Amino acid sequence: MYYSDDIIEEVRSANNIVDVVGSYVRLQKKGANYWGLCPFHNEKTPSFSVHEGKQIYHCFGCNAGGNVISFMMNYENMTFGEAMKALAERAGIALPEVNDEEAKRRNSKRERLLECNKAAAKFFYFNLRSPHGEIGMRYLKGRGLSNETIHKFGLGFAGKNSGELISYLRKEGFEDREIVEAGLASHNERDGLSNPFWNRVMYPIQDQGGRVIGFGGRVMGDAKPKYLNSQETLIFDKKRNLYGLNFARTSRVGNFIMCEGYMDVIALHQAGFSQAMASLGTAFTVEQAQILKKYKPEVVYLAYDSDGAGVKAALRNIGILRDTGLNCKIINMRPQKDPDEFIKANGADEFQKRIDNAENSFFFEVRIAEEEAGDMKDPAVKTAFHKEIAKKLCVFTDEVERNNYLEAVCDKYHISFDAMKKLVINTAADVDREKVYQAPKSGINRRERIKDREKLPQRTLLTLISDNPEIYPQIKKYLSIEDFTDEIYAQIAKRMFDDLESGNMNPAAIVSMYTEAEEQRIVSEVFNSEIPNIDSPEDTAKAIKDVLIAVKNAGFEKFSSEIDMTDAASLNAVVTARLKRDSELSEIQKLNIRL
Ligand code: CTP
Ligand code: MN
Repeated sequence: MYYSDDIIEEVRSANNIVDVVGSYVRLQKKGANYWGLCPFHNEKTPSFSVHEGKQIYHCFGCNAGGNVISFMMNYENMTFGEAMKALAERAGIALPEVNDEEAKRRNSKRERLLECNKAAAKFFYFNLRSPHGEIGMRYLKGRGLSNETIHKFGLGFAGKNSGELISYLRKEGFEDREIVEAGLASHNERDGLSNPFWNRVMYPIQDQGGRVIGFGGRVMGDAKPKYLNSQETLIFDKKRNLYGLNFARTSRVGNFIMCEGYMDVIALHQAGFSQAMASLGTAFTVEQAQILKKYKPEVVYLAYDSDGAGVKAALRNIGILRDTGLNCKIINMRPQKDPDEFIKANGADEFQKRIDNAENSFFFEVRIAEEEAGDMKDPAVKTAFHKEIAKKLCVFTDEVERNNYLEAVCDKYHISFDAMKKLVINTAADVDREKVYQAPKSGINRRERIKDREKLPQRTLLTLISDNPEIYPQIKKYLSIEDFTDEIYAQIAKRMFDDLESGNMNPAAIVSMYTEAEEQRIVSEVFNSEIPNIDSPEDTAKAIKDVLIAVKNAGFEKFSSEIDMTDAASLNAVVTARLKRDSELSEIQKLNIRL
C-alpha cells in the first residue's frame, strides 16, 4: 500500500459514495438504500444498491461491490492510486507524495505514457482539421462518416512529414525515451527517432476508461499494409483491450456486437448500434471474452466478414465464447462483405433485422460443416457429417440442453432422433479421450466447491455480526480469529472485532484495507449479503448459533488436520482442543441471544 491508512480514509470519507456514484448512475432512494441500474452489467430492473450509511455499493445481480474507491477503479478502469488521485482532487485534498519508490516510478511511468498517447491523439486530431489534413478528412467523409462520428472516435490524421509528431511531443515536454516507450516512435543509430505513422488516417485505441493507449492508422488507398497499429507497450495490451468497448460497455442494450474491423465498429455506432466493438487486428482472446463476460451480455453477436477468413474466425471464437460461458450468435452479412458495407448498402433497419435473425452458434457450426462435407448423396460423406454433428453435440454438458439441440438438429436435417442419440453416446467417450473440445471452464471444480462450502459460514457469520452489532458482546467469548480459515475473512474479522471493541465499525474503511478490486468486492459482499430465510429476530438468533457452530467446527478441523499426530504431545493438543470445542459448542447451543 502506497498511501497511509489515514490519508486513504480521509479521501474516502470526504467523497460521499451517493454523490460520486450518483454522478454516473441515476439513483433513487428506497428504504436505507439508493437503487439504480447496475453500470457493471446489463439489466432492465435495478439491482444495484448504494448504502449511504455503510458507504458501500453492491449489485445483487452481478455481485459487483466495494466502496467509493472501488467504484472509481471499476467504473473508470483506474488503478487504486489513480482512483485515490481522482477522489482527492474531487474533494480538494492534497495527497502526500507516495513513499514507495518502485510504485511511484511505475505509476508515473504509466501515466507519462498515457499522457504521451493523449498528446499524440490531440496532435492527429488537430492535424485532420488543418489544411494538411484535408485529404484525410476527404477520405473519411468519402467513407460516409459524419463530423459527429469523427469527433466521437477522436479520429485524426498523420501527415506526410512523420517528424512533426516527434517535434510536437518533444515540445510538449516528452523525452525521446518516453516517446519510444509510448509506442509512437522507434529509435535507430542513423536516423534517431522515427515515427511509423505517416500519410494515414488515425484511429486512437482507447481502454475501457476511454484513455488512449495506442493507434491504428489506415492508408488512404490500396497501399500495403492497409493498417498499421502501435506496438504493444506497458499501457497497450492487445490481449486485454477491445476497440470501441469504452462506448459499448455503457450501451445498455444487453448485448455486444463483435466485428473484425475498426471501420465496422465506427459505421455501426454511427448507425445507432452503440454496442459494437472489435478485437484489435489480432485474434480474439480468452482474456477479452472474460472482460465481456463481466458485463453479463445476453448474447454476443459476431458480425464478421462473410469471406472464408471471417467464417474461420467465427468458428474459432464461438469456442472461446462458449468456454467462457457466453451465448453467441452469428449475423449473416451476405451479400455484403462486412458490417460497414452492409450498413451503407442496406441501412440500419435491415441490419437490425439481421441481428434479430442471427443464427445460433451451434447451427452455424453445423451448417458450415455441411457446406464443407461435400456431396450428401454419398453415404460416406453423410455418415461423416452425422458423426461431426454428434461430436458437436457432445460439447453440451447439460443433458436437457443437449437433447434440445439434438431434437432440433435431427428435425432440421431429417435424421432419426434415436440413431443420433446413440451416435452421441458413442462419440462422447471418444471425444473425452481426444479432448477435441476443452471441458467448459465455467464451472468451478470440486476442490474449490468444498473450499467455498467452508467459506460460506464464515462470511455469513461476519454478515450477521455486521448487521446486528449488538450480538458481538454476546458471542465474542467464542469468537477466535483462528476459526476463520479463509485468509481474507480472517483479516476482515480481526479488523471488524477491533472496530467493534472501540465502538466504531466502518464498513467502507474496512473495504479500503485492500487495493485490488476483487478483494474489495469480497469485503463489501460481507456487508451486503442477503441471508435467506431470515424473517424474525428468532430466525437471526438461530442462524447465529448455527453458523457459529459451523465456523468453530471448520476451524477445529483445519487445526487438527495441520497437526502431525505422530507424537504424544500433539495428540494431546488435539484432544484438548476437541474437548474445548465440545464444551464451547454445548454452551453456544444454550445461549440465549437477544436482539
Ligand atoms: N488489420 C490490421 N492490419 C492489416 C489489416 C487489417 O491490423 N494489415 C486489422 C484492423 O484492425 C482492421 C481489421 O483487421 O480493422 C479488419 O481488417 P479489414 O476487414 O481489412 O479492415 P476494415 O476495418 O474492413 O477496413 P476498411 O473497411 O477500412 O478497408
Ligand atoms: Mn471494411
